[in-house]
Amino acid sequence: MEKPNNRILSGVQPSGDLHLGNYLGAIKNFVTLQKDYECFFCVVDLHAITVWQDPEVLKDKTREVTAAFVASGIDPNKNNIFVQSQVPQHAQLGWIFNCVARMGWLNRMTQFKDKAGKNSENVSVGLFSYPTLMAADILIYLATHVPVGDDQKQHLELTRDIAQKFNNDFKTDLFPIPEPLIIGEATRVMSLRDGLKKMSKSDPSDYSRIMLTDTADKIVQKIKKAKTDPKPLPDNKKDLENRPEAENLISIFASLKDDTVENVIKEYGLKEFSFFKQELSDLAIAKLEPITKEMNKLLSDITYIDSILKDGRNNARSVAEPVLMKTKEIIGFLS
Ligand code: TYM
Repeated sequence: MEKPNNRILSGVQPSGDLHLGNYLGAIKNFVTLQKDYECFFCVVDLHAITVWQDPEVLKDKTREVTAAFVASGIDPNKNNIFVQSQVPQHAQLGWIFNCVARMGWLNRMTQFKDKAGKNSENVSVGLFSYPTLMAADILIYLATHVPVGDDQKQHLELTRDIAQKFNNDFKTDLFPIPEPLIIGEATRVMSLRDGLKKMSKSDPSDYSRIMLTDTADKIVQKIKKAKTDPKPLPDNKKDLENRPEAENLISIFASLKDDTVENVIKEYGLKEFSFFKQELSDLAIAKLEPITKEMNKLLSDITYIDSILKDGRNNARSVAEPVLMKTKEIIGFLS
């Protein structure tokens, strides 16, 4: 079997509206990376159902994530865009990895602890074993690189541990040890209401996040209301320490503008936040509005969206199947 050396897999859950964190931390980087890598971009619906999803809404959100990929600039003719549940090899390898990963490894996952909170006896088993399926998503394609936001770092380390343990246990070199690509100026976009909390789909406050479906007016309102401190913007990067809200807004600006935090500070240092927020709103609208418009256009043609997913699914299956076969042979399953 040929081993790729520049293959990407990444996934996005269809579990709610996509927000600026998903865009800047992941999707925007996918668009850049498609030039240099063979890419598999997966809408991870099996991961989404680790918490309750309304069946009708799940269908809509699955198509919405697909539309967001394409509207952001991922070329569906050159990349594999597909739905996780339509490529059954993921779940099959996921089971095998449940038998490779150790309870202790999963017990250390901070995302599980955050999501389960005090309710850990009552959450699904799937939420606990979530990272083993994520490892399968990546390794079923022998992917070498995984672009993600900073919050997925620990899951990526677990993926590397699983690949290593499988290879050691079975004395093989089948699985690569994939590299995380956590890149750009906004690898961890924070809530607009609290600079110490990650921007997330599950935050009860709508004003904590900018959604890819937000109108221009909504974006202006949300940025206007964003929490800041009373001081003007700092004039050097060191002074961002202990100013999480300032750091967040500046990083968002830098990332949207494809510039560096240093340059943004050079331009806006010592300016008032009221002024900076207006500039940020203008920039966010200029960058996001075309994507939102294109998403809406794409979503009015479901047949087209589904045809992208069908092609993606067929390609993905044809790459995943031989890897699954090889894995089964190594384990000693009859063919
Ligand atoms: P999900 O759906 O929560 O998020 C999708 C991507 O968006 C990134 N992200 C952020 N980046 C910066 N700031 C934020 N506030 C922020 N919030 C989310 C995430 O890091 C992610 O890259 N477990 C994954 C989905 C997944 C996956 C995979 C990823 C399943 N299988 C295999 C990579 C490879 C997740 O929950 O993403």
